[in-house]
Amino acid sequence: MTDYLNEYCTHTATCGELRLSDVGREVTLDGWAWHNRDHGGLIFVDLRDREGYTQVVVDPDCVTPEEFSEAEHFAREDVLEITGTVRARGEGMVNPNMATGEIEVLATGLRILNKSVTPPFAIEDGIETDETTRMKWRYLDLRRPEMYANILLRHKVAQAMRGALNKRGFIEVETPILANSTPEGARDFLVPSRPNPGKFYALPQSPQQFKQMLMVGGIERYYQIARCFRDEDLRADRQPEFTQVDVEMSFVEGDEVIDMMEDVMKEVLEAVGVEHPFPLKRMQWKEAMDRFGCDRPDVRFGMELVDITDIVKDCGFKVFTGAVKNGGVVKCINAKGAGNWSRGDIEKLAEVAAANGAKGMAWIAYTSDGKEKSPIIKFLGDDVHAAIKKAAGVEPGDLLLFAADTYATASAVLSALRLHMADLLGIERKGHALLWVVNFPMFKYDEEEKKYAAEHHPFTMPRREDLDKIETDPLSIGSYSYDLVMDGFEAGGGTIRIHDAELQRRVLRRLGLSDEEIDEKFGHLIHALQLGAPPHGGIALGLDRLVMLLAGKDSIRDVIAFPKTSSASDPMTGAPSEVTGRQLKEVSLRIL
Ligand code: AMO
Ligand code: AMP
Repeated sequence: MTDYLNEYCTHTATCGELRLSDVGREVTLDGWAWHNRDHGGLIFVDLRDREGYTQVVVDPDCVTPEEFSEAEHFAREDVLEITGTVRARGEGMVNPNMATGEIEVLATGLRILNKSVTPPFAIEDGIETDETTRMKWRYLDLRRPEMYANILLRHKVAQAMRGALNKRGFIEVETPILANSTPEGARDFLVPSRPNPGKFYALPQSPQQFKQMLMVGGIERYYQIARCFRDEDLRADRQPEFTQVDVEMSFVEGDEVIDMMEDVMKEVLEAVGVEHPFPLKRMQWKEAMDRFGCDRPDVRFGMELVDITDIVKDCGFKVFTGAVKNGGVVKCINAKGAGNWSRGDIEKLAEVAAANGAKGMAWIAYTSDGKEKSPIIKFLGDDVHAAIKKAAGVEPGDLLLFAADTYATASAVLSALRLHMADLLGIERKGHALLWVVNFPMFKYDEEEKKYAAEHHPFTMPRREDLDKIETDPLSIGSYSYDLVMDGFEAGGGTIRIHDAELQRRVLRRLGLSDEEIDEKFGHLIHALQLGAPPHGGIALGLDRLVMLLAGKDSIRDVIAFPKTSSASDPMTGAPSEVTGRQLKEVSLRIL
């Protein structure tokens, strides 16, 4: 018997547990009528609960006429309680695809606990119902075995995280939801304060500043399964509210957080039965960018970027030489198996390149019967072409796609093309690949805002050896930072923090803040750092993304019980919704 059953439940077994060894047992099952069939005087019901489903047979000879008549009117999703005897299924009736497929329960009594009106969609796995409908009736969607499995997996991952962190001396502390703005690069959700007209709280984009304050407060090892709020464009792997496994620890300076979190991940993966080799690879940020064009590489397949800048810098093709003269690079990928594609199909790829900032997409196709097609071979010259082929390991059947641009744009273009081609060519990406990408640059230049921005966040510790370049050469500075990358997604990220007040000021000044602004926005942090802040660092894992990947899903919406749609709304409750004039007045607001 499953251990959650207790004296208050009337059922004596779940719908997923009965086997041949239970034959002869008298049982009571509670659940939902899933599939109902009337077979010439016998009624068959698949009774479903969260543990599985069991076939129930209602025979008029074994129940009262009233009960049989009720059974004749069972509807989908009626809530039933059935008492009966477990018996082996007859010859040829065993269902090997069903955990309880060797037995059935012959009803001796039944009770309708609640009737259901016809559900708006069938409760089946793999259904084609559109997502808005699923979300409007999310409680029905959650009854699908697949959804329950996702929610259960999420629970197991969260519990394994808690267990692993508890064991290592971390304590769970809650931090405020009504807070001040914490910069994590997104817009804030604002909440008006009624007692303070014209003033607003910001919902936390992460508990970043609070967890640092906890370290100054002597907590030493903190974690929280923390809800975070970010008003940003939504994608399959982004929700306006999401959950982080948020961690911070004191007296660390280097790899201690990575080492600790890697051990935690090992335990978590074991707990949910996922095999992965450890220790994880630690890849420098620059290497990830050079080889894959992005800082969260999917390393489960090759098609790596090939740098041909030196080969083409003096060739006859102006697009390439021009990019090099402007300080840029020329790189390519070799999409093996696409060499026989038509010109039209290849040119279509240029849309992907353009969407990522490319001004064009040169290509060379090598057909399997030894022919070459390309808009650019004629400009290259034989020697340069031969050198490119050698560098890219070209064989018949290959397609080279080129990007000539700044390092950043060429990387973004080829990274997108690499993933796109892997999809189109059906390149298998089996299992999971976790790795650390470490040592991100401290700063990046924001072309739109025309100022420096923090690559992670402004509380990140710059590399010790680079400290004297904050004012003079910020883009060359590294940082004590690390992302946990899984299957091409950023599953988590963290940094060692600045614990020196003056260094924190220098970094904030470099981001364009005046001393007055620093005191106004970050005065509390600067004070805290002056008052005995221990060296500290931490990390936050995206729980939704981690569970999405472990569940093999494409969207984090599938692992969140009540997610928002891509327009940030909830079709079930109707949120966000209008409020009354009186409510607005109470918080001193007027709608424009
Ligand atoms: P960061 O901003 O990298 O770091 O966030 C940590 C992890 O949270 C997940 N994540 C999201 N998941 C779903 N929807 C979103 N909108 C979303 N945004 C982020 C990602 C990401 O890796 N305070 C720092 C951590 C630290 O330095 O300790 C932070 O929040 O998986
Ligand atoms: P054009 O001389 O502009 O007609 O370009 C010749 C070829 O080079 C075309 O196939 C373009 O798509 C390609 N091309 C143009 N600009 C770039 C670029 N920045 N990177 C890679 N290929 C480019």
